[in-house]
Amino acid sequence: MKRIALFASGSGSNAENIIRYFTNNKEIEFLILSNKADAFVHERARKLNIPSFTFSKASLESGEALQFLKSQQVDFIVLAGFLLKIPGNLLKAYPNKIINIHPALLPDYGGKGMYGSHVHEAVVANKEKESGITIHYVNENYDEGKHIFQVKCPVLPTDTPNDVAEKVHELEYKYFPQIIEKIIQE
Ligand code: GRF
Repeated sequence: MKRIALFASGSGSNAENIIRYFTNNKEIEFLILSNKADAFVHERARKLNIPSFTFSKASLESGEALQFLKSQQVDFIVLAGFLLKIPGNLLKAYPNKIINIHPALLPDYGGKGMYGSHVHEAVVANKEKESGITIHYVNENYDEGKHIFQVKCPVLPTDTPNDVAEKVHELEYKYFPQIIEKIIQE
């Protein structure tokens, strides 16, 4: 049995997609953690019958959140639209067991402030011909851990940031659960 904590700060469509992918896998259990009490991900969790919790930035940094994860016997952490930096106490307790998805082809369009629509706006503003997703291990810097997987999608000259977001979300929904399935077995 593996217990996976999904960290999400907002809508949580990736979290929901991941949970649905593993519905029939009795070897995996999920819980959801968010730093926002009013994040839509809690609503999704309720409908999916998955426990969800809110924790503060302070408790993440003090080690209180880590204690909670340990008490919940969490083996693996997946960041899916999670906006806070992961502090050293968590990285140390979960070496190579925390992964993130970024909605662009890192190392481009990563780092502080590069999240959600900001990423796709920058990609369109720079007239990029392609974008994509990067799944990577998490380290102490935003979006800088070792890459696990990348896949690209075309960006057309007529694409709006929303169009790019849609293409990227499709890639996320298709590949993120598969990569998680592979990685947790390692
Ligand atoms: C995704 O595009 C993810 O790559 C990024 O934030 C977005 C979260 O979307 N880090 P959702 O909350 O899963 O709908």
